[in-house]
Amino acid sequence: MSNFRGKHILSVNQFDLDSIRQIFSVADQMAPYAHRKKRTKVLDGAILGNLFFEASTRTRVSFGTAFNLLGGEVRETAGMATSALSKGESLYDTARVLSSYSDVVAMRHPDSGSVAEFAEGSRVPVINGGDGANEHPTQALLDLYTIAKELKFHGHGIDGMHIAMIGDLKHGRTVHSLSKLLSLYRDIRFTLISPKELAMPDSVLDVIQNAGHRFKVTDQLEGNMDADICYQTRIQEERFESQQEANLYRGKFRLNQDIYTKHFQSKTVIMHPLPRDSRADANELDNDLNLNPNLAIFRQADNGVLVRMALFALTLGVENIISNYDCDVQWFSTKSEATNNEN
Ligand code: CP
Repeated sequence: MSNFRGKHILSVNQFDLDSIRQIFSVADQMAPYAHRKKRTKVLDGAILGNLFFEASTRTRVSFGTAFNLLGGEVRETAGMATSALSKGESLYDTARVLSSYSDVVAMRHPDSGSVAEFAEGSRVPVINGGDGANEHPTQALLDLYTIAKELKFHGHGIDGMHIAMIGDLKHGRTVHSLSKLLSLYRDIRFTLISPKELAMPDSVLDVIQNAGHRFKVTDQLEGNMDADICYQTRIQEERFESQQEANLYRGKFRLNQDIYTKHFQSKTVIMHPLPRDSRADANELDNDLNLNPNLAIFRQADNGVLVRMALFALTLGVENIISNYDCDVQWFSTKSEATNNEN
């Protein structure tokens, strides 16, 4: 068993299969709390510093929700302009100060390596919520957790699976982190589909190859590719030199029901880290897929709360005492676990 207590969560490189199983086991135990069947006050009095220096909906709010669901409180900093970083303060100084106000920090920043730099100055555990085009470890964990659940529903496991990753594989930190985590398993097949200029970085291909997996790099969707998972991504326009350059690739790899039927199996699970770009000229994951039971995008987002609750419980060392602090749910709740037939 890994000991996460007091540790930073900065990169997927720090996980092995045992630690992933441990995180997923704790995440499973979080379901009754996330689905409002039970409440816990185990983190009563604890404070999360939720520092998001780059736009976010899911990661920022689900970190906050996860902490609240464990009974803790959340202090938000959203946007560079409202922080003294915009006055030239260093990440180290910011970390020294804010970590004394918090028991744990979740952070997103536009620069690769910035969250690790912040962690060097922090006196409390720091969890990486995305650092530039580099990594998004908690997204990769929730993606993997979702893949395991979805494939289990279809009667198999992660070993031997085939994943098609589509879109901006150069700048998409979620596909970098997920590919590295999948490389811990056995006999994974990767089909990597992107414009040539937005191909998966060699550093990630090296990890896949060195772990003995097969991969195919292509710039088009071809034939029926027997993928178990289709992982679609957004053109990461915020990482391009100019909007004009990003526009060259916008709408190149749309997925709608007709394209899905032509290229994928009827059971292929459709994933996307979100946000999907639903503007007409991009429309990378068409609304006509919304009722497709294989569309797992909102189940992914739901699973993010479970995985982030697990990471807080583990880093703060309360994973074995959560139910000691249970209390009743007093209000009427319609929340229940999403199934494969319900997004
Ligand atoms: N998937 C993800 O990171 O979404 P946000 O940018 O909304 O946090």
